[in-house]
Amino acid sequence: MYGIQASEFGSEDVLAYTELAAPQPRAGQARVRMHAAGVNPADTYIRSGTYEFFRPDLPYTPGFDGAGVVDQVGAGVDTVKPGDRVFVAALGTPGCTGTYAELAVADAAAVRPLPSSLSFAQGAAIGVPCVTAWRALFQRARLQPGETVFIHGASGGVGLHATQLAHAAGAVVIGSASTPAGADLVRTAGAAHVLDHGSAGYLDELTRITDGRGPSVIIEMAAHLNLERDLTVLATAGRVVIVGSRGSLDFTPRLAMVKEATILGLALWNATPAETADALTGVAARLHEGSLVPVVGNTLPLREAAAAHRQVLEHGTRGKLVLIPE
Ligand SMILES: NC(=O)c1ccc[n+]([C@@H]2O[C@H](COP(=O)([O-])OP(=O)(O)OC[C@H]3O[C@@H](n4cnc5c(N)ncnc54)[C@H](OP(=O)(O)O)[C@@H]3O)[C@@H](O)[C@H]2O)c1
Repeated sequence: MYGIQASEFGSEDVLAYTELAAPQPRAGQARVRMHAAGVNPADTYIRSGTYEFFRPDLPYTPGFDGAGVVDQVGAGVDTVKPGDRVFVAALGTPGCTGTYAELAVADAAAVRPLPSSLSFAQGAAIGVPCVTAWRALFQRARLQPGETVFIHGASGGVGLHATQLAHAAGAVVIGSASTPAGADLVRTAGAAHVLDHGSAGYLDELTRITDGRGPSVIIEMAAHLNLERDLTVLATAGRVVIVGSRGSLDFTPRLAMVKEATILGLALWNATPAETADALTGVAARLHEGSLVPVVGNTLPLREAAAAHRQVLEHGTRGKLVLIPE
């Protein structure tokens, strides 16, 4: 079979499209013929070799997310069987051989039925984006119906699905995007208002929309740029969940004091198996009822994984970036 392999850590140029030995499922695992693999920003951090959560043994095949058809199962697996359409959501599970390949093995708990209404590309958009969105809204912020949530960075993989999930949970959603196309997607996902985080003074608009109160919850994708300003617009006793941060900033602790704010970190890697199972169960229920519809942005052939790793860090996100095996 063919797939992507990195033999060293470094720039995206280490990602080689090459012939690989087909992985074999052990007890408790399933092998999936991949029709699509999801590309997440974390895949690029791992490839650099400097990611605090995960440093794979070399050589390795990247990817935790994907979708396809089960072709083999190991002993003791009765949740899926050969021929089933499935999605793979394997971040944080030990047995995943990497979804950037024609065949991938993963622990059966990370291999879930894909609703017939969804394409394989949509299935590849479920894992990290939807589980992170669920964890941010419901496990960390404990969002309640009727609350106002600001998804700061709503046009990407996590943000669009957080917007849908929060809307379905009865929250009032305000999102942000930096392009008109991204803003349209955020609106379609259920946001009542969309702000342009590329324009000056856009957070003043947030204060105006919320009649001066500010949102009770902020889900933050770029805390290294926004955390200080988030605290200025947050409602009193509000919660900020830091999902993404790629650097540092000057921060005035007094702002947290004045608002009696709760600042919550989130790392999917810290989710317990029970929390991951809870999130996947919630996500699966929303997928089946149709209130959560995975949003695919750009698709690229699997052999162009290096280009995908460049694209996934660029502005102008419009949903999930997905690799398709030829
Ligand atoms: N903590 C965890 O466990 C965890 C899990 C998943 C993801 N993450 C992190 O969360 C972040 C988002 O992930 P993703 O998969 O959604 O990435 P993505 O698909 O690349 O989307 C990035 C989002 O951030 C927005 N953004 C860019 N500049 C911004 C700014 N100045 N202010 C607010 N938003 C801004 C983008 O909007 P435009 O493109 O329109 O500018 C887009 O909506 C990444 O940093 C990722 O590494 C963390």
